[in-house]
Amino acid sequence: MVERRQEPARWYALCAAGALDNGAIHRTELHGEGLVVWRADDGRVNVWEDRCPHRGVRLSLGHHRGDTLQCQYHGWRFASGEGACRAVPAHPQASAPPIRVTTWPAIERYGFVWTCPSATGASTAAFPLIDALAAAEPPACVPLRSTTIDADLASVKRALSAYVLPQADAAECAAFECERGTLTIESLDGAACSAIFVLQPARAGKTRVHGVVPGDFDAEQRLALQRAHQVRLNAMRDALEAAREALAEAQADALRTSSTEAPAQNRPPRAQPSPVAVTMPLVRMDAAPSAISPAIDASSHASSEEDSPFTVHLARSGGSVDVPADTSLLDALRAHGVEVPTSCEQGVCGTCLTPVLDGEPLHRDVWLDARERAAGDCMLVCVSRARTPTLTLDL
Ligand code: FES
Repeated sequence: MVERRQEPARWYALCAAGALDNGAIHRTELHGEGLVVWRADDGRVNVWEDRCPHRGVRLSLGHHRGDTLQCQYHGWRFASGEGACRAVPAHPQASAPPIRVTTWPAIERYGFVWTCPSATGASTAAFPLIDALAAAEPPACVPLRSTTIDADLASVKRALSAYVLPQADAAECAAFECERGTLTIESLDGAACSAIFVLQPARAGKTRVHGVVPGDFDAEQRLALQRAHQVRLNAMRDALEAAREALAEAQADALRTSSTEAPAQNRPPRAQPSPVAVTMPLVRMDAAPSAISPAIDASSHASSEEDSPFTVHLARSGGSVDVPADTSLLDALRAHGVEVPTSCEQGVCGTCLTPVLDGEPLHRDVWLDARERAAGDCMLVCVSRARTPTLTLDL
């Protein structure tokens, strides 16, 4: 939220317009804020905060209902456009409560869906005119598959600039008020084809690259262009991510070395949880709704690992809480008079998110994404447990 207020008004591409076909619901992020993007049956595109105003569940886990989006949790429906609540299934006779989803500006242009975050009350920026694309509205252009790269926007921009041709100068990019680069790649017949790339700063260290090639191509040429670009983009992604991992390893080595040299600091370095060890279905930001919905089933909270007892140290209030194998962490905390705000108590809404200061959580929610799970610095205490004998929580 802070980032949104500080961000000057400018337009960002969020996904290819085709990603919303057939009632698809697209989850994405911009500057760390979760967004849900969907198109109503009348063709209107919506960009909303990915949070139900009722209980905070991600709306991207919900269902497309023509001109409304329905929350998975209690079934509340929110109308395309204003995002106002239209219906509450539990009270069919009552009028809908006067609450609405937080909506963002949304424009479908040049084959992408765009939004413009701006300070509350500020007007949105003028939409950038991208000459090469303005003359080639779909279908006279070839959309490329969007690529997510675990690297910050500046690094991706630098890497893309290695492909930039002399005609794409930085001043022109600035005038468009969107981050973009162009590259040329050989088409099937040997003619050069320029591609336009727009960059989406999803969050710190994560950037999405959306690309399109202006022009009219036959099916064979389109396929060849898409493949050729994907190979290059994948190579660029792999190189950036390898560089990032190498840097992280070097930093971890330096940290280990310094802790070895400081015997007073006898706490062992924190184990890095392996993403492979995550047993719950992961909610992927680009997963189709059909792939996400099964994760909501209560049975998905069952673990393939046996529950073990563990101990929780409370960093702020002091003291410790033993959590027996047959008791949830939330119940154990409550039994010791430790109150944590909750809502769903099923690992769905995120209300009970609690920082983890030490130890390794055993995640059993469907709210955290893969990166958050791997980071291991927070957990949802209503359903999750511990992999390590002890956990230290910021409670
Ligand atoms: S209370 Fe909803 S995720 Fe824990």
